[in-house]
Amino acid sequence: MTREQGLELLKQHVETDRVMRHSLAVEAAMRAYAKHFNEDVERWGLLGLLHDIDFEKYPEVHPHKAPELLKDFTDDQTFVDAILSHGDDMGIPRDNNEKKCLHAVDEMASFIIAIALMRPTRLEGLKGKSVKKKMKDKAFAKAVNREELTSSREDLGIEFNDHIDIIVGGLVEHEAFLNESGISMLS
Ligand SMILES: [Fe+2]
Ligand SMILES: [Fe+2]
Repeated sequence: MTREQGLELLKQHVETDRVMRHSLAVEAAMRAYAKHFNEDVERWGLLGLLHDIDFEKYPEVHPHKAPELLKDFTDDQTFVDAILSHGDDMGIPRDNNEKKCLHAVDEMASFIIAIALMRPTRLEGLKGKSVKKKMKDKAFAKAVNREELTSSREDLGIEFNDHIDIIVGGLVEHEAFLNESGISMLS
């Protein structure tokens, strides 16, 4: 499975900009973390890209429908399980780094994009300090559960500032890559 195939599949099931951008942001963060942990960058990127594949069509049961939508894409059950594990009611333990990571970057990647959109310099120079401030600002991105941002990161065992640096680095790199094909997570 290649990124191109993954993106094609995603486009079959996701039409809204919001979900597409979120998927790209989580992909970016997963790729950065794969590099950090010396893991398979393409696989981790695809986990990020496809983790919400069933969200738009089946929001009520997400991510239960993911296996069905992925069945022609991969027969790797560990891949499907990793995607399922980001759902809290799936009962699938987050027992390895790719699962922990997906959970830890899911909301944080989009939270960081939301912060960047309010800054003139966007992602440039965006550090943990600014993110911490926005986490304390209850009026900002209200839907994002702050406790979960923290607990999922702690479960991964990474310091807050390092977590932000890794994700921001991944977003910067991926934004440049996406820009080459006229796509942006930031406009
Ligand atoms: Fe999700
Ligand atoms: Fe998500």
